[in-house]
Amino acid sequence: METWKQFIQIKNQQILNKRERLIRNSSCGNQIKIANSLFYNYQSNDYLGLSSHSLVKNSTIDTIHEYGIGSTGAPTLGGYTDIHDDLQKKLACWLSYESSLLFSSGYQMNVSLFTQLVNENVYVWLDKNCHASHIDGALFSRAKFTRFNIENINQIREKVISNDLLHLIITEGVYSMDGINKDLPSLFALKKEFPERILLIVDDAHGIGCLGDNGYGTIELLKLDFKDCDILLGTFGKAFGSHGGFLCTNHSIAKYLRYSVRSQIFSTNLPPSVVSASSKSLEIIQSAECGQLRNKLQQNIKYFKMLTAQYELNIFHRDSNNSPIQLILLDSTDKVAKVYQSLYEDSILIGKIIYPTVPLNTPRLRISLSAYHSESDIELLVKSIHYLLREFI
Ligand SMILES: Cc1ncc(COP(=O)(O)O)c(C=O)c1O
Repeated sequence: METWKQFIQIKNQQILNKRERLIRNSSCGNQIKIANSLFYNYQSNDYLGLSSHSLVKNSTIDTIHEYGIGSTGAPTLGGYTDIHDDLQKKLACWLSYESSLLFSSGYQMNVSLFTQLVNENVYVWLDKNCHASHIDGALFSRAKFTRFNIENINQIREKVISNDLLHLIITEGVYSMDGINKDLPSLFALKKEFPERILLIVDDAHGIGCLGDNGYGTIELLKLDFKDCDILLGTFGKAFGSHGGFLCTNHSIAKYLRYSVRSQIFSTNLPPSVVSASSKSLEIIQSAECGQLRNKLQQNIKYFKMLTAQYELNIFHRDSNNSPIQLILLDSTDKVAKVYQSLYEDSILIGKIIYPTVPLNTPRLRISLSAYHSESDIELLVKSIHYLLREFI
């Protein structure tokens, strides 16, 4: 009979993509300290640099003085303060929705949400490029679901026409491993065709705050109508530089979810200090100062694309992906691992993305750009990758 020790040993051997946990001992920026050594940083989701903004930090500190550390309970059991309430109202108003709801993290939201939106009459369609949290959420909901290819929307249309079910469609504004979802307009068109039968959910975790003239995200960038997106999902852990998840929707859906999603009932709410940080970030995101940060981010993205074209690096969706997540495709997992390691030895941190995070045969380097990068940071990165691919690998 197998022992627990053997069980864990076997499981450990089965882990395909062994990830590293580097120990950072500094705040986030274009340079960070890893084990007390300085590294150039192209790994963080802090797209606007707000995680270290003085107003955001001060707001957190002031709130701790006034409210203490923890929220002390679930939202429905004493853990809901006026700071939470205020942010929910501000968010909904900013994104032109009737209502919004906060969660302890984007992951927690996505895992706990769908269970409340399905029954035997609902068919779930999950974009094949969706984040792991959506796959987990769909599995957890025990709904029947199909993973669809967004380039083949007809597959969904045919099913909607041929049966009487309700259809729940989940997609993303910016795919975390592929960049901007350029086919989002086709799903919005489908929703328009069947407004009563389709509930469209868009997770724009990587878009809200940093994309579009006003920072409303991918829906604004692609000039789509927020009215066609029934539930918009976001996170405070990226452009907001803070922590937590949120959704925006209409009054009746929000009311239902507020009192039914289990993580709203059985998990301690976000600390008021963290919510106050997100609230301050939202104020900054709405300000002219942030307009300049978004412009700087876009300039950095443009410069990165221009340089990588000059150095003939294979950028994924070069023409359509204007998101801060940029991907360089290489032809083998081994190359990705070697480039990652050599850059690491030169104190440069990027993302190493290999199977099973992405399909086999599509290994890639993942570069997260931010408003805090300078042109010389981008030159250093692109020239280093070019040099490694030409000389060594
Ligand atoms: C598209 C998407 N949704 C949700 C999440 C999870 O958000 P959080 O980090 O707040 O848990 C991520 C995280 O990377 C993501 O990329």
